[in-house]
Amino acid sequence: MGKNKINVALIGLGRIGQMHAENLTNHQSFNLKYTFDISKKLAQKISRKFNSINIINPEKAFRDKNIDLVFIASSTFTHIKFIKEAAKHKKVIFCEKPLDLDINKVNTCLKVIKKYNPKIQLGFNRRYDPGHNSIKKELRKNKIGKLEKIIITSRDPAPPSLSYLKISGGIFKDMMIHDFDLLRFYLDEDEIESIFTTASNISDKRFNRIKDYELASCLLKSKKGVQCIITNSRHCSFGYDQRVELFGSKGMLISGNKNENETEIFTKNNTSQKQPLLNFFIDRYVDAYRLQLDELALYSRKKKSPKSSFEDGRRALIIADAALISLKQRKQIKIKF
Ligand SMILES: NC(=O)c1ccc[n+]([C@@H]2O[C@H](COP(=O)([O-])OP(=O)(O)OC[C@H]3O[C@@H](n4cnc5c(N)ncnc54)[C@H](O)[C@@H]3O)[C@@H](O)[C@H]2O)c1
Repeated sequence: MGKNKINVALIGLGRIGQMHAENLTNHQSFNLKYTFDISKKLAQKISRKFNSINIINPEKAFRDKNIDLVFIASSTFTHIKFIKEAAKHKKVIFCEKPLDLDINKVNTCLKVIKKYNPKIQLGFNRRYDPGHNSIKKELRKNKIGKLEKIIITSRDPAPPSLSYLKISGGIFKDMMIHDFDLLRFYLDEDEIESIFTTASNISDKRFNRIKDYELASCLLKSKKGVQCIITNSRHCSFGYDQRVELFGSKGMLISGNKNENETEIFTKNNTSQKQPLLNFFIDRYVDAYRLQLDELALYSRKKKSPKSSFEDGRRALIIADAALISLKQRKQIKIKF
């Protein structure tokens, strides 16, 4: 246990929690002190694997003065209560996206935590992706002139488990929320103003039963008139499809997919055939998750604002709510923050 390390309590040890546990353990600035999950069996297994202290009540972490950072990676509906508790105990907070599914809960939370003025970094990992970042830098350098369109394609290789989907909040609040945030990342001081949504189920009828969608697309417009298109699928036969295109008055910037390696195969039947795409978020965004932690370490120690804040989480949720209203009312919806 390094003396100057940032002591962390990690809450939630599922798919993403386990990845964070590994990354925190491997990071020079953090000491993964406590781990907690309501599944006792899982919690025991993970604490053994990462040599952390398995706590059976998260209060222990909140009350421990040596804990600097509370890292929330549990199911979405638990985030707000842990944020409030961590803020009360003056911890630095990292919280996975989305903040919650209910904007009223988020707004109330904001009022409650205001007096503690906590440091909160949100898990919009795509903001940290080197590819997505470099096109923003080129855009700022005026390489493509005035920004006119943003086109985001985001398709998961396969849906998560049905039990996850049932509590996920649906495709807009669970999945497309990343893309709503990414739009705002490129727009900077410009802001989303309106949204029109369409969604359907064609191949996987399970989504009908849980009143969710496997396919969804949105057309959004910013105050300055930038046209934004987002298209999501919960399945994709050729892997994790993650592409961003920025189109401007003088050119275009693309942050493309990542392949397993850069080899291209040329044969009698194919030219320029590339290797398969990286499997899913843990592989595709490996650098982003690492850079996200680098920033969290700096943020914990100094006053450096993170790329992704509580307010970004709140605004992305407001857009997701508007997407659902547009779908229901079959019309373009104005967005107010
Ligand atoms: N940023 C990303 O790339 C990304 C990727 C996947 C998931 N997520 C987000 O991370 C969160 C977790 O997703 P996941 O895929 O790991 O889900 P998961 O279902 O695999 O894991 C959630 C874990 O939280 C635990 N949990 C539930 N209630 C709890 C409580 N009250 N206290 C402690 N633990 C509790 C569950 O037992 C489970 O182990 C979700 O909010 C999700 O939206 C973010």
